[in-house]
Amino acid sequence: MSIDSFALKRNTIHINTCELKTASLQDRVNRADKLTLEACPVGLLFEKNKLSKIQFNINKRVITMTNVVLKEGINWVGAVDWNIRDFHGYTTSRGTSYNAYLIRDEKTALIDTVKANFFEELQRNVEELTDFGKIDYIVVNHVEMDHSGSLPEIVKLAKNAKIIASQRGKDAIIEHFGPEFSRVEVVKTGDELKLGKHTLRFLETPMLHWPDSMFTYMVEDKILFSNDAFGEHFASSERFDDEVDQQTLWEECKTYYANILTLYAPLVTRKIQEVVQMGIQIEIIAPDHGVIWRRDHSKIVQAYLQWSAFTSAQKIIIVFDTMWGSTDKMARAIAEGVASEAVDVKLLKLRASDETDIVTEILDAKSVIVGSPTLNSGMFPSVGSFLTYITGLKPKGKLWAFFGSFGWGGGGVRNMVEIVKKAGFEVYEPSIEIKYVPDAEDLKKCFDFGKQIAHRIKA
Ligand code: FEO
Repeated sequence: MSIDSFALKRNTIHINTCELKTASLQDRVNRADKLTLEACPVGLLFEKNKLSKIQFNINKRVITMTNVVLKEGINWVGAVDWNIRDFHGYTTSRGTSYNAYLIRDEKTALIDTVKANFFEELQRNVEELTDFGKIDYIVVNHVEMDHSGSLPEIVKLAKNAKIIASQRGKDAIIEHFGPEFSRVEVVKTGDELKLGKHTLRFLETPMLHWPDSMFTYMVEDKILFSNDAFGEHFASSERFDDEVDQQTLWEECKTYYANILTLYAPLVTRKIQEVVQMGIQIEIIAPDHGVIWRRDHSKIVQAYLQWSAFTSAQKIIIVFDTMWGSTDKMARAIAEGVASEAVDVKLLKLRASDETDIVTEILDAKSVIVGSPTLNSGMFPSVGSFLTYITGLKPKGKLWAFFGSFGWGGGGVRNMVEIVKKAGFEVYEPSIEIKYVPDAEDLKKCFDFGKQIAHRIKA
């Protein structure tokens, strides 16, 4: 099947010759006369055929167009960032997405936007569905630039739109974009906005992930637009939870929670309880990163409750670095001692493992044993970096223990212990330190050290 001169202006795609690969679109083409097809906006093609993807093969070049419908009149219009590998220090080895949503009713609302350099993708996605001039509201659930970076460009096009945000959202918008944004309308928990058949209800969620953060709940369709919460950094060509590889999805959910939300664990529990107490029914959770939860929304909520309770397994993580191999030998002997108690143990060397992954492993571990050689009377720099990161995240309910090697004055172990005690972590003492190179007796001490810690966490 081929079509000649398939023209689509503005909301129309210009195609000279193509083969249509999507069966249901092919049916539509079979039914449609050429003139109708030529004049048909892509958005209409999608909706009439209930398609989420149309693939055009144009002169051997494949163009894929997606149209993600959450419910009638509610579309994903965001962007996928396949190649980001560092998200403010978090290693995003599988990329991410910036999800934004368009709701078309008597009034039209755009929920969140995208990072500035993805503005054109959002623009294209929106214009396939409506004119920017028809947008009445832009809801800013969170001002961090991955969700609001393109706001200045959007308001240039959406000239009639009112911006909606929490009070602290308004403050942050003005601080980022200037006083010309002082027309932002402020909403608070419980406030509602009628769009026609659809109603938006707002719920402030301070510190999930910034003070300004809020959820927007679509009452009639039971969709929770949860912004950062319940997301994951995972770029994919599919948009829904039931369409992607499950193991990868849950790995990324855990990594995201561990690296972004660990510090806010008590708030996560409280906010979920608040949602339950408000009697909010949920059919879909639509976060601003990763997949949209239309099948396993309860499962991700349960996972958040479990992670925020720091539910841990009989598992010990040994994190260490080494200069000339002494601390490495100690780490291995400690690991053997832990394993002798039938406790799961993982040995992660800094500079060989990514801190993002180490933090993920720590999330459900009962104990963390950290080792460092002494350098310049203190701990090794990579260990310093790790401890700065982990004490900032404040994981709770874990037993911390320390070991290391030194040549003359020492100081590495003392340095580590001081830092974590200051952070309020529970420390197993005494720590263990070896001069220069551990001999057989030293390694036996290390083995026993690991065994005792394993025994302690089993008690
Ligand atoms: Fe995805 Fe806190 O921004």
